[in-house]
Amino acid sequence: MRNHTLQIIKGDITKIKADAIVNAANNSLMGGGGVDGAIHRAGGPEILEDCKKIVAHRGECRTGEAVVTTAGNLPAKYVIHTVGPVWNGGEKGEPELLYNCYRNSLMLANGHQCKTIAFPNISTGVYRFPKPLAAEIAQRSVRDFLENSEHQISEVIIVCFDDENYKINREMV
Ligand code: APR
Repeated sequence: MRNHTLQIIKGDITKIKADAIVNAANNSLMGGGGVDGAIHRAGGPEILEDCKKIVAHRGECRTGEAVVTTAGNLPAKYVIHTVGPVWNGGEKGEPELLYNCYRNSLMLANGHQCKTIAFPNISTGVYRFPKPLAAEIAQRSVRDFLENSEHQISEVIIVCFDDENYKINREMV
């Protein structure tokens, strides 16, 4: 019997006290707008310093992949940066790539002994991924991981910043 929960809440992910919070980054890892901007602003320059070291060492972060940095001044222990797919009609592997964002972030969090992890609605802002499909993929990827992998994660939180995502994700959980 596995004791883990998936919660959907409305809020600002920079305020969430999870072991890891996930950032919807871009391939350069150099920051941006949306949740990326919010996390760097709230977390401070240490996060960007870590991102620069990662890029110097192993190059940009590929879409669907995830990397981990300090959380700086945030209440979390780690920020996991993952790069979601830009929506391009849905026939270019976007669904699989989005699924991988959640899975790879969970694997990385688990590898860093995290018990709780919070996600934004990856790719549903600037990257224009349709919200209903993104929500279905996110929740399926999280459930697949929680139910079928060896892990110590007890709580996954999907933090919806906008009302539309909140409604869609609540109705789907
Ligand atoms: N907390 C939680 N979620 C947030 C926050 C926040 N503080 N701010 C924005 N969001 C939500 C948006 O409402 C959206 O639902 O994050 C979701 C993802 O939107 P974006 O941040 O635009 O991310 P994405 O669509 O994945 O595009 C990534 O945007 O900011 C740039 O550098 C980033 O190039 C990358 C691109």
